[in-house]
Amino acid sequence: MTDTSHARLLIIDFGSQVTQLIARRLREANVYCEIHPFNKVDAAFLEGFAPKAIILSGGPASVIDEGSPRPPEAVFTLGVPVLGICYGQQVMMQMLGGKVESGHGTAEFGRAFVTPKGTLPLLDGWFADDKEQVWMSHGDHVSEIAPGFEVYGTSPNAPFAITADTARNFFAVQFHPEVHHTPNGALLYENFIKLAGFTGDWTMGAYREEAIRKIREQVGDAKVICGLSGGVDSSVAAVLLHEAIGDQLTCVFVDNGLLRQNEAEDVVKMFRGEYHMPLIHADERELFLGELDGQSDPETKRKIIGKLFIDVFQKHAAEVGGAKFLAQGTLYPDVIESVSFSGGPSVTIKSHHNVGGLPEKMGLKLVEPLRELFKDEVRALGRELGLPASFIGRHPFPGPGLAIRCPGEITRPKLEILRKADAVYIDQIRKHGLYDDIWQAFVAILPVRTVGVMGDGRTYDFACALRAVTSVDGMTADYYPFTHEFLGETATRIINEVEGINRVTYDITSKPPGTIEWE
Ligand code: XMP
Repeated sequence: MTDTSHARLLIIDFGSQVTQLIARRLREANVYCEIHPFNKVDAAFLEGFAPKAIILSGGPASVIDEGSPRPPEAVFTLGVPVLGICYGQQVMMQMLGGKVESGHGTAEFGRAFVTPKGTLPLLDGWFADDKEQVWMSHGDHVSEIAPGFEVYGTSPNAPFAITADTARNFFAVQFHPEVHHTPNGALLYENFIKLAGFTGDWTMGAYREEAIRKIREQVGDAKVICGLSGGVDSSVAAVLLHEAIGDQLTCVFVDNGLLRQNEAEDVVKMFRGEYHMPLIHADERELFLGELDGQSDPETKRKIIGKLFIDVFQKHAAEVGGAKFLAQGTLYPDVIESVSFSGGPSVTIKSHHNVGGLPEKMGLKLVEPLRELFKDEVRALGRELGLPASFIGRHPFPGPGLAIRCPGEITRPKLEILRKADAVYIDQIRKHGLYDDIWQAFVAILPVRTVGVMGDGRTYDFACALRAVTSVDGMTADYYPFTHEFLGETATRIINEVEGINRVTYDITSKPPGTIEWE
């Protein structure tokens, strides 16, 4: 389901680790773009997609190798601007009559400086200091540029760092403008889209209208079920769907007894009370906590929760009767087809099932209204839809909930203590204005009791650990550097306000080697 109402840019992916960042830079400039793997792009695809400009990404292959990836020739005869990056630059040169050679001391990895040679609209605003820092990552290099191209920038190891054929609007750079280490890289993309004639019409307001039209078109008058967790993605998906199809949508919210303080009440109050959505509030606390009773192994706990969730969701969804669609908050990074060069099928598709395999099991078709968006765009859409900032900016919360913040056996009293301590900790973080600087913060209750003294009496209560990390995507993380004053004040508040805890520690492990959650 490709969007045809916007001017669109096509990114042909040759497998670079940072291709998604190109899309980010373009979306930030309000340009609609899609990433497609090189082996799915042929002349017919190009005709259908009708791009207004094309970017050829970087990639790990060598253009010198036989059978290495190529875009279709039609890329260069469409009459649209083309920008080649790293491998994309080399493939461009090779196909247009230039020459690429490997190695021989000209490989470059990491920071480099490019100096200008002449002026080029692509480089407007560059070279204010006579040179620009760029990020290089290449083994091969272009040894002869293609006819029609001129050199506009050089680096010590890349005499053809920036080249262009201005008559055809073809541009080629040896470095990666999309990464952080090319500080003015975004400007280069902005110049490219400007010269390609994009007007920056990809706004959230426009997206909202279109998404609503597409949902109505796809769903017709059928009923739709949506699993609502209270997290950003499912909340935004639900509100958007509700705006599109009203009461044809029923949300199912499962309370598994492992939610944070007031979480179930808040979700129900907002979606039922403020949005007036048909909402099934499945109170399955007894079932989950009963099955988890006596279990202390992290993987067993996760498996029990995952399986029960599917059973319970299926049971409650069946109450809706006659539903034909299941809505999921799948995001763009989950659906981009990634290029793989080694073994097996040449293309691996990352598929994402928020409610693991349910559509197949229940014979439902999927509605995924966020599948073209990145996370920050989902947040922007949430704001556009009027969702409260407190929902949009929330820290991620894992599916297994408090179960994985309660190492060892889970008991109801321990969960109660954990909820209270967590609420005090988050309150502290908010009061100190730190919430938005932190990727995720929570308390874990430890499976150990320690001796303390309060007033004149001895205490023998649980110890807890505070966790707060900074991260970009949850894959790696660093602990948050709270001040000692903040930590001391928070420990005092937790011990004073939460019965059952008499010792507070701060977890200063990064990921790796730790993980963010404790289990
Ligand atoms: P870890 O603990 O693996 O967590 O460093 C990385 C991020 O993923 C979240 N997380 C989960 N989210 N289901 C989820 O939806 C899960 O089973 C799950 N396990 C961990 C975690 O909260 C962190 O943001």
